[in-house]
Amino acid sequence: MAQIIDGLKISAEIRAEVARDAKALAKRGVVPGLAVVLVGENPASQVYVRKKKQACAELGIASFDYDLPASCTEKRLLALIDELNANPKVHGILVQLPLPGQIREAAVLNAVDPAKDADGFHPMNMGRMLNGEETALPCTPHGCQQLLMRSGHDPAGKHVVIVGRSNIVGKPMAAILMQKAAGANATVTICHSRTADLPKITRQADILIAAIGVPEFIKAPMVRKGVVVIDVGTNRVPDASKKSGYRLVGDVDFAAVSRKAAAITPVPGGVGPMTITMLMKNTVEAARRASLRRKPGNK
Ligand code: GUN
Repeated sequence: MAQIIDGLKISAEIRAEVARDAKALAKRGVVPGLAVVLVGENPASQVYVRKKKQACAELGIASFDYDLPASCTEKRLLALIDELNANPKVHGILVQLPLPGQIREAAVLNAVDPAKDADGFHPMNMGRMLNGEETALPCTPHGCQQLLMRSGHDPAGKHVVIVGRSNIVGKPMAAILMQKAAGANATVTICHSRTADLPKITRQADILIAAIGVPEFIKAPMVRKGVVVIDVGTNRVPDASKKSGYRLVGDVDFAAVSRKAAAITPVPGGVGPMTITMLMKNTVEAARRASLRRKPGNK
């Protein structure tokens, strides 16, 4: 049976570190603050946003919540972002994605002050990440890296196959793991919906990261024995036996793949809690950098 990589346990370890840092900042008069902006009523987004608010409360981070209607114009959202950029109590800004069709995602992500970019989605921070400079890293891939490192699976020298090429997970995951840096140094392959003979490539993975958003897409014949699997998927599938009417499954067929894998993350309880934890970490780091900038003589 595979080692189950416990995202709740690893998340709790990191949250304790973040809470300690937040407390130290508060003692110096700086309470880290995160603004969470939700546009519309996507049920999955509402769940994430609720969990983010809870995590802030638990870790001593002030949360500022903005719920805008699905009909919100781009102009109104950009005006709110300007306001948050100028508010000294706000150190991190998160605009929950996806946004309604009338709003251009790139225009919104570009408008966030890079110093307050809690998601690491601003092109400047994406560029810094690619260059290996210190910056806010996108939360989900950063969380995946932490899961690997803290469960004893250093990716150095390993062939990591990422299935999925989104801006939120696949692309930044590759950028993080290919760096010449501790916790990285991997040989990375990215696959996607147009990859020819996908199973041939996924079977070469020492570490397989599934981020395609298709329920139980990765089947046992697609992996080799002894693989380490990180399942980023959170898919709702109908289940009449549940009160909610659905259950959560990942992008990996857990029951079958866990029989071949050396280690695997469950869904829920794997990557999910890590995303929010890394967001908290980015917010506290942003607050710390802002507090240093405000002192005379510091940039
Ligand atoms: N939607 C799905 N994942 C994320 C995330 O990490 N950040 C934001 N802002 N939106 C998301």
